Amino acid sequence: MYRWLYGELRAAILDGRLRPGARLPATRDLASAYHLSRATIVTAFDQLKSEGYVEGRSGSGTYVSEVLPEHLLDVHGPHQESRLPHRRIALSSYARRLQPFRGSVARPLRAFRAHQPALDLFPTNLWAQVAARRLRRVSASLLAGGEALGYRPLREAVAAYLNISRGVKCTAEQVLIVSGAQEALDRTARILLNPGEPVWMEEPGYPGAGVVFRAVGARIRRVPVDAEGLALASGRKKWQAPRLVYATPGHQFPLGVTMSLRRRLALLEWARRSGTLIFEDDYDSEYRYSGRPIPAMQGLDRSGVVIFAGSFSAVLFPALRLGYLVVPPEMVDIFAAAESVTTHHPPLLEQA
Ligand SMILES: Cc1ncc(COP(=O)(O)O)c(C=O)c1O
Repeated sequence: MYRWLYGELRAAILDGRLRPGARLPATRDLASAYHLSRATIVTAFDQLKSEGYVEGRSGSGTYVSEVLPEHLLDVHGPHQESRLPHRRIALSSYARRLQPFRGSVARPLRAFRAHQPALDLFPTNLWAQVAARRLRRVSASLLAGGEALGYRPLREAVAAYLNISRGVKCTAEQVLIVSGAQEALDRTARILLNPGEPVWMEEPGYPGAGVVFRAVGARIRRVPVDAEGLALASGRKKWQAPRLVYATPGHQFPLGVTMSLRRRLALLEWARRSGTLIFEDDYDSEYRYSGRPIPAMQGLDRSGVVIFAGSFSAVLFPALRLGYLVVPPEMVDIFAAAESVTTHHPPLLEQA
């Protein structure tokens, strides 16, 4: 009841029926006029007082605040925003470079759509059972939060899976859980690239990497893709060695080429000599029409030049927003620091 009275009085103040300085009726009078308890009236007045709409002068009643901003008193309806003068808000240089990524908008399901697993076949009942079972035995400490690097048992499971299934050489200490390969890319770009620094990208390539690199102000150098993957020799002929190379060696996006062993070894050796780091985007390389998935380039890396990223978006479903990064040991702390600054840690229940 007090919410109703509070709302009525507030509306009267905002649309000017009760002018600044106007005296509100005494609580006792209002209570008898509306057949309400006095406590209800007092609670409504207290709420208006705490929000600054009215002021109580002891012994002399309650008055509409004089200090209400004029434009608040002028509110006539729900369309007030459209009447606000257009404001130019000063943005950071990062924000000025940001462009929305159209690929992040979910599109209707249909066959042969890039990045889209057969979601209509996803075993939702089984998933619901597993999730419910996990939730039922959740501990209070899990609800409290966790490590920036991610949920330890999941990091161990991912390390074991990547060792066996993708030939990745890593320990659980090098694995970070992130909200998908997209975040892995964004995090890596922010940590490694300064505005104006060059980054190589496959041409054609994954547009989601382009938006990330443009947002950090990197200069994108396009390197063609041939039958063996990213054409290293063409890139070297045209461009200087960059800070970072973005590549999809397992399953080139969008052509589907698998980078040859010869090309992988050449790329790794050149990266070692030129001090370049390679971002290996392993998104959806689990899927092949024939044979076993080709092991990751990271497994061939003997000098710690590869940052490896993968995702559960394609093997489970994109809305899960879970992926992983495998970084060289000396980079673990800086990646964990970045995660702790932006999100503390990825959502824990989904990881558990
Ligand atoms: C090549 C490639 N890399 C990364 C991503 C981002 O995936 P995630 O959903 O894990 O963020 C996609 C998504 O379609 C992709 O196609």
